[in-house]
Amino acid sequence: MKTAVFSSKSYDRERLTRELKQVADSGGNKIECTFLEVRLTPETAILARGHTVVCCFVHDELGPEVIEILAQHGVRHIAMRCAGYNNVDLRACRKCQITVSRVPAYSPYAVAEHAVGLILELNRKYSRAYNRVRDNNFSLDGLEGFDLHGKTVGVVGTGKIGVCFARIMLGFGCRVVAFDIQENSELLAAGVCYMDLAGLFAESDIISLHCPLNEHTQHLINEKSIAGMKCGVMVINTSRGPLIDTGDIIAAVKSGQVGYLGMDVYEEEAGVFFEDFSSRIIGDDQLMRLTTFPNVRITSHQAFFTHEALDNIARTAVENLVYQSRGEPGPNLVSF
Ligand code: NAI
Repeated sequence: MKTAVFSSKSYDRERLTRELKQVADSGGNKIECTFLEVRLTPETAILARGHTVVCCFVHDELGPEVIEILAQHGVRHIAMRCAGYNNVDLRACRKCQITVSRVPAYSPYAVAEHAVGLILELNRKYSRAYNRVRDNNFSLDGLEGFDLHGKTVGVVGTGKIGVCFARIMLGFGCRVVAFDIQENSELLAAGVCYMDLAGLFAESDIISLHCPLNEHTQHLINEKSIAGMKCGVMVINTSRGPLIDTGDIIAAVKSGQVGYLGMDVYEEEAGVFFEDFSSRIIGDDQLMRLTTFPNVRITSHQAFFTHEALDNIARTAVENLVYQSRGEPGPNLVSF
């Protein structure tokens, strides 16, 4: 079974190759991978010619146009190397009879711990302190933070990652409140209080987003919802960029309504995040504006990026390919 692996970096290639070798050594069906560094876009989709499967990641474009091209070239399956599949047009897949699999969980700890890292960095200003000390400047001016203990933390989405995050924040001695379309009994037992979204926004000192991106959650954070938050609130997004209206959050950071912003994801991150622009010009003025604020921290969609998560992604993605090579649905097929 020939598979075109788009957006593949060295760390993907090494791990996928290792997992594929194990499958081959144990006498499994032959799965041949073509590793491509480029993102899947309408322009690069032609590279899938001769493959029956494409293996994709978060920035690959899997809209109707690309799905149509893939189908024309004989692609029957899309194996996502991530949990979210908001970049896949499922309607087009259904029309073209292309199935989709994903890696539903690889390390909720990695993402939850990164969210906490952003909170600590914004609050205690470690990178500013580090740069100061490197310059023999031992002054504490401007480094004042606040105790997390006793603060109210609002968790939007209490699935695998949200639960890990809530537990860590409970460990800090925070009061944790949550909103989800489905309450989690484990968190209720741990003392987390569920409330509606407006209540969570109004009561939280820190708001962390852990829900999926869909038509109900797009621009969940916008001018109106921000107006209902505490002045100086900290907002953390490690989920998906479009959960936040970028223009509205920039205005709120400028006005001081949002006092701290931590983003591992950004609305227009595709084509910029994961790439080196240190000697190139970035055309995105909103992203450039965000990088100028002293109270905004941006990381390049790296919350998942731990040894354990990468190993788990490769293992499950290859398991999904094995099911596909046997003509079996497997447990991680996206239903639509
Ligand atoms: P999950 O599926 O375990 O949990 C998602 C939770 O959100 C569920 O409890 C669900 O009921 C809830 N939810 C659904 N619609 C909602 C709504 N309208 N309002 C509030 N809650 C809602 O997913 P998991 O594994 O916890 O991942 C969460 C998100 O994290 C993913 O959708 C993905 O976008 C993001 N993610 C980011 C990564 C990164 O590297 N930055 C890596 C992995 C995931």
